[in-house]
Amino acid sequence: MTQRSGAVVGLALALALVAACDRSGGGAPREPVPAVPGDATPQLGPEPAEVWSEAWITWQRRRYLEDGGARRAALEASLVNPANMYSAQRLAAYGLDVRGWDALPVWNPRSQPITAEIAAALERGEAPRLPAGRKPLWDGVAPATQAGWVELGRRVFFEYPMRAEVFAEWGFTHRATFDAIGVERTAAGGVPGLVVFANVDGKTRVGITCAVCHSTVRDGQLVAGAARRTFDYGRLRIAYFDETRAFVEPELARRMAKWGPGRADVTEDNDEDPVAIPDLWGLRAQTSLTQAGTIKHASPLALAIRQETQLLHSNHQLVRPPRELAWALAMYVYSLEPPPRAPPKHPERLARGGELFATHCRGCHGNAAHGGRTIAATAIGTDLALANGLARGTGLYRVPGLLDVARGAPYLHHGVVASLDELLSPARLRADYTRGRTPGPIPGHLAGTDLSAPDRAALVTYLETL
Ligand code: HEC
Ligand code: HEC
Repeated sequence: MTQRSGAVVGLALALALVAACDRSGGGAPREPVPAVPGDATPQLGPEPAEVWSEAWITWQRRRYLEDGGARRAALEASLVNPANMYSAQRLAAYGLDVRGWDALPVWNPRSQPITAEIAAALERGEAPRLPAGRKPLWDGVAPATQAGWVELGRRVFFEYPMRAEVFAEWGFTHRATFDAIGVERTAAGGVPGLVVFANVDGKTRVGITCAVCHSTVRDGQLVAGAARRTFDYGRLRIAYFDETRAFVEPELARRMAKWGPGRADVTEDNDEDPVAIPDLWGLRAQTSLTQAGTIKHASPLALAIRQETQLLHSNHQLVRPPRELAWALAMYVYSLEPPPRAPPKHPERLARGGELFATHCRGCHGNAAHGGRTIAATAIGTDLALANGLARGTGLYRVPGLLDVARGAPYLHHGVVASLDELLSPARLRADYTRGRTPGPIPGHLAGTDLSAPDRAALVTYLETL
């Protein structure tokens, strides 16, 4: 650890202590005040019956924002395997009131998405600069409507820095590399997912946000929630290490070179388990989150806690986001919907395809997003590394949703299947198969591979309409 980052940690610890005593300090937004008799805040009644109604969402939000005990209980209930690294870290630090992450200073950053003009300045080699007068992301006022929460969440998604990213800062002065690894630009020249922001240590830096992996530019239009399947994060880092001669562990460099576009290893163990960046469609319908089903999705608190802890963890556990922003981010993620599908090329096959889906697929892909429960990884038979990984492992894979699946290639948790035809093709199961990422069979997920060729084509037509 360098001198400078040592000082930052020291400062953050000092801030954490201050914050634990005086939550109003440091320009941080006010914490919600617990309800006391005579206070304007009404007591929380019983859970409203209608799931996802405005009343129900409000009730869940109040549990999350006002009740530390509810947060801790929701965390504990959401972790499927308490022993994996993801769960162990959170159980040790989350929802402990005066200790652990609750005691971190609340950080409401000043951050600015990278416009064409800012990109041009960075490309000229200028130091990152915030526009004069840029205010903190949140004005400290809780939105009054659900639409207001979603809109606040959209800003968090595009603007809240997950951390300063030296690779991204470097990339602006290496434009060819940057473009080649899938850092996309909007028609107006903006760079969605990258920001300039005032970091915790006061320095202005380039940072990454959710949108760098979970948004894409299609025909000049920004599609929020779609995976950035061109983004080769591993290659960006390797290019940086190659050019700057900064030290990188050879083993890590070898692994990063194998990620390829649209995949990243977001776990902290040394397992070799890069996963495909997923689309964020239809998550309300899913009873578990992440591909290994690491998080049981019993209520919106599970996603809000995932987002709160992701933001504070990625920011090196120096600060935590205002909980209002974590909640808003979850509401935004729930609101994401895929763009309209293209009409099927062979509409005459649709009816047959629908029948086949009902018979062969719906048993697992049965919920509103055409996803479903988790099943044992050995039962589905795909690669076991992620399911059994130290970091997030549960021994399970979650049945993914299939909304807009035709634009979702490559498929399966590790992105090893190139097309829907390949997923259904019996050829990929054969020992002499050579068309995969690596020579040899692509095992597992046998459903549909025993159908006739015309039936497989009909099924693909149906899948294209989901
Ligand atoms: C470096 C790329 C990257 C960034 C940045 C990123 N994600 Fe992800 N995200 C992933 C990958 C890869 C997965 C799949 C992980 C898994 O399933 O194990 C994922 C999974 C998810 C999931 C679970 C989806 C599901 O189907 O269950 C959600 C929700 C999500 N991300 C939201 C976010 C939000 C919100 C942010 C910003 C705070 C963010 N992500 C930042 C790459 C990224
Ligand atoms: C036994 C339960 C089960 C059945 C039956 C099943 N699936 Fe799946 N499906 C899964 C699981 C689990 C995964 C994730 C596996 C993984 O990532 O390793 C999956 C993944 C997929 C994916 C990849 C989605 C993505 O975004 O990567 C597609 C497409 C898919 N299934 C289509 C189908 C079709 C079509 C059928 C019927 C022919 C079908 N499934 C039948 C359990 C099932």
